[in-house]
This record gives sequence, C-alpha cells and structure tokens, in this order.
Amino acid sequence: MDKQIEVLKTKLAQANLGGGQKRIDDQHMKGKLTARERLGLLLDEGSFEEIGQLVEHRGRDFGIDKEIYPGDGVVTGYGTIHGRMVYVFSQDFTVFGGSLSETHAEKICKIMDLAMKNGAPVIGLNDSGGARIQEGVVSLGGYADIFYRNTIASGVIPQISAIMGPCAGGAVYSPAITDFIAMVEQTSYMFVTGPNVVKTVTHEDVTSEELGGATAHATKSGVTHLTYANEVECINGLKRLLSYVPQNCDELTPCLPYTPGDETRKALDSIIPPNPNQPYDIREIIAEIADTDTFFEVHKDYAENIVVGFARLGGRSIGIVANQPAVLAGVLDINSSKKGARFVRFCDCFNIPLLTIVDVPGFLPGTDQEWHGIITNGAKLLYAFSEATVPKITVIVRKAYGGAYDVMNSKHIGADMNYAWPNAEIAVVGAKGAAEIIFRKEISSSPDPNAKLKEVMDSYAENFAHPYKAAARGFIDEVIEPSQTRTKLIRAFKMTENKAVSLPRKKHGNIPL
Ligand code: HXC
Repeated sequence: MDKQIEVLKTKLAQANLGGGQKRIDDQHMKGKLTARERLGLLLDEGSFEEIGQLVEHRGRDFGIDKEIYPGDGVVTGYGTIHGRMVYVFSQDFTVFGGSLSETHAEKICKIMDLAMKNGAPVIGLNDSGGARIQEGVVSLGGYADIFYRNTIASGVIPQISAIMGPCAGGAVYSPAITDFIAMVEQTSYMFVTGPNVVKTVTHEDVTSEELGGATAHATKSGVTHLTYANEVECINGLKRLLSYVPQNCDELTPCLPYTPGDETRKALDSIIPPNPNQPYDIREIIAEIADTDTFFEVHKDYAENIVVGFARLGGRSIGIVANQPAVLAGVLDINSSKKGARFVRFCDCFNIPLLTIVDVPGFLPGTDQEWHGIITNGAKLLYAFSEATVPKITVIVRKAYGGAYDVMNSKHIGADMNYAWPNAEIAVVGAKGAAEIIFRKEISSSPDPNAKLKEVMDSYAENFAHPYKAAARGFIDEVIEPSQTRTKLIRAFKMTENKAVSLPRKKHGNIPL
C-alpha cells in the first residue's frame, strides 16, 4: 500500500504544479495569483475539497498529446465561505493559458450540476484565453455545455464570476450569463476578440486595457458590476457580496442579529436641500436608513444616475434601488433603466426584499435616447418592478414626476407600502412645464407674460407639488417625517416578511429585451 500511496502523492504533487514552476513564476511576475492561491483566499481554511484533480485532456493534434497536465487547467470542487457551502472553479492560466478543452469544460459542468442538485452558489474565477485552439469544435461544444447550464441555473442558484486575467471569446460569455461579474484593475481583461483582431478588422489601435479592462467595462459597457484594485480585494468583495445572498431560490438570506433601539435619524430631516433643483448625494440618505456600514453598492461607476446595491435593515438583507440626484438630476435614461431592471430581477430571483428610494424628475428626453430605444429600455425597469413578487417598499424623498413615478415601484405596479416625505412632489410634470402647456394661451395673451407664468406656476405647484393628493387617493400609504424613515421601514419589512404572491400560470413572460 505504501507504494501505491506514494504513486498517488506523486500524481497529486504534479497536479498541484499546474503548468510548472516557470509559468507559476510568470503569473506572479504579472501581479497575479495562481488558481489554487485564489481558492485558498476565497474559501474557509481547510474547507476545500477538490474534484477531478487527475483529469487529463484528450487532444491529439498539434503535439498537445505530449503535453499533459493533470487537472487540465482548471481547479474545481466545493468548500465553504463563512460556513456556507459554495461550488467553485478556478482556471489555471499556467496550463495552456487557462484555455477550455473538452475535459476542462466537463469539470466545470460537473460542479455546476452538483451545485444545482444541492442548491448552492457557483463561483467561477476566470483566467482563460478562451476555447483551446488545438481542440477545435470539441472545445466550442464544451463552452456551449457551460452556457446552457449557466442559463438553466439562472434564478435557481446564485452564479458569480470574477475575472482575474485576460479572458477572451467563450471565457467572457459564460460570465455574461451569470448574476455578477467582478474584475481586477490592470490585470484582467474581457473581450470577444483582442486588440490584434480589432486592428485587422476595424483598423482601430487600442490596448487591451482600453478595449476590455476593468475601467472600460465598469464605466462604458456596464459588463462588470464590481472592480477591485487587486485580487485579494476582489476575493474579499465576492465574499461580502455572498453574505447578502441566499443559497438558492427557495431560501432566504440569513438575518443578522438585531436589537431594536431608537431608530430615529434626525440627519434625514435636513439632507434635502431647500432649493428643490439642487443636487445632493442619495447615498447620504441610504447611509442613514441602512444598518451602519452595510451598504454594498454594485454597478457603481455605470449609469451613475441610479444607485443600486445591497444593505442590511434591522439585520435583514435588502436590495436598494435609488435615483441619484447628484448625476443628471437623477433622471431615468436607457442605461439606468437597464441597470435598475437587472438588479431588481436578481433580488426577485433570490427572495431579497426591495427598497426603492425615489427622487426622479422624469425620463431623459432627446433624439439620442429615443433613437437608442428609451421606450423599450425604460419598459425593462417598469416590467421588472411589476413582475417582482418580493416585498417591495418605496419612499419618495423629493420628486416623482411623470412616467418615472409609475416606474419607480409605485403602488399601482404592486408595491406593498409607499411612503412619501412631506416635501415630496408627485405630479405629471413640473410646475413650469405644466404652466407652459396648459396655460400657453393665457400666458401669451397676458400684458405681462412673465408675471402670468409665475402666477400659474405658483398655482400649479400649490395644487400638485406635494404628496397629499396621492395620499388622499391611497397611492401613498403614509406621509412620514424623514427622521422616522428607518423605523417605518424596519417595521414594514417585518410586516411583509411572509408575503406570498404568485403570478398567473405561464411559460415565462416576455420582458422587452
Ligand atoms: C490554447 C492558448 C490559448 C488558447 C493562450 N494559450 N490562449 N492555448 N488555446 N485559446 C497559451 C499560449 O499558447 C501560451 O502557451 C500560454 O497560453 C499563455 O499565452 P500568452 O499568449 O503567452 O499570454 P498573454 O500574452 O498574457 O496573452 C493572453 C491572451 C492570448 C490575450 C489570452 O494568449 C490570446 O489572445 N489567446 C487567444 C485568444 C483566442 O483567440 N481564443 C479563442 C477565442 S474563440 P505557452 O506554452 O507559451 O505558455 C472562443 C470560442 C467560443 O473562445 C465562443 C463562444 C461564443
């Protein structure tokens, strides 16, 4: 037996070395960790159980049959994070650049199947040059097997992707189907085709960083939800993200212990500036409402006119969607609608109650928005809020104008509790716009058009720029003092914790994509 155990140990030692010490050193020189080092940081100490460590590729072309690395470029298995089960794969760039062979794909599929059967998240640490070129169509087939599982698992178990190296081709489409993507600045890239192909096809000169670096995807494309300065911070970010999320669609995120105390937040009474057109940072309101230091913002640098993220409220995990008056006055546009809709749908998949904080002057007008489809894209957010069956609570803290009032989780589309602060303005359009449309003739025929405009604006504002018409109709359940918001919300989320709503029987809805 001793001899056989020695044989096993030799094989495992070889597998642990991946593509060899020289390539491991190269990886370190680039400021990157190895696949195993990353898992060591991600999982609770000693919890990792590896699966498929001795799998070998079946490629026979271009001489790769002479290059066998046990494990075949991906470390797969399961372990725990803060005591909760997760399934993981971590691609090993030292083996054929982490490229995906038939067997590499089979290993990933195996842990995805286990995760689905056992109801726990899958976390993929991606560091891969895409399909293994020497294997041809079998590696394409391997990718499609993964994409299919990503899709079927969507909404059943949380799927989270970290991009930790240059990821090309198929290596970006699987993350794209998952729920959240995190990237590491300067060492990770995502593109369908790299700068060389871009140069050949479009004659554009672009670096990897410009084309598909963390900043490009965080700010321009919106492909990544989170970016971090280095791999250690990225892995810590993934762990924090998971703390807000349940294991699967049939569970709730565990509540943290919470002792009710004085929840009055006096600061909320003076955050809104006296001038209703003055910007302020909605995050100040979020920080006062949420449990201390619990707001975890996602998609922070994309469509900054809406803020989305997770927080704890009375120990409970919630999702927050809030207009951001500090950027574009908090207007809804194409990108903010897409960003909000995606987040709402994630929360709804995984039983995370939603808090909507409204300060929105309306939809952004103009040809750019119309021609790029603000109608279809704005409808995404409307659809997502309407379809969501989790507890949904809204607070209007200042403006709620026009269609954006409807969209931002209004009572009419299924919100469970709708609060407004006393300064809230709820109307079809602002006073100036209204006056210019409905009193146009009176203004133009007046001997003093400016005085007439002011008079009708004041009259419109007095009639409509407050929450009491909506409250009189029951569209607002309660007008509350800002300082009482936290108390009200903790109670309302408690009141709705057993909410059970089911949608009519259907195959699936048809969200305007
Ligand atoms: C096989 C690969 C590989 C691949 C890299 N390698 N990509 N081997 N198949 N796809 C190998 C290299 O030969 C090299 O081997 C080692 O990995 C490291 O690669 P380098 O090029 O030296 O590293 P770097 O300079 O950091 O560049 C990384 C890279 C680049 C940007 C990922 O390697 C690259 O562009 N690779 C090809 C990308 C690609 O076209 N993939 C196919 C996409 S199509 P040695 O032996 O020297 O260490 C696809 C189809 C699916 O994925 C589409 C589904 C929708």
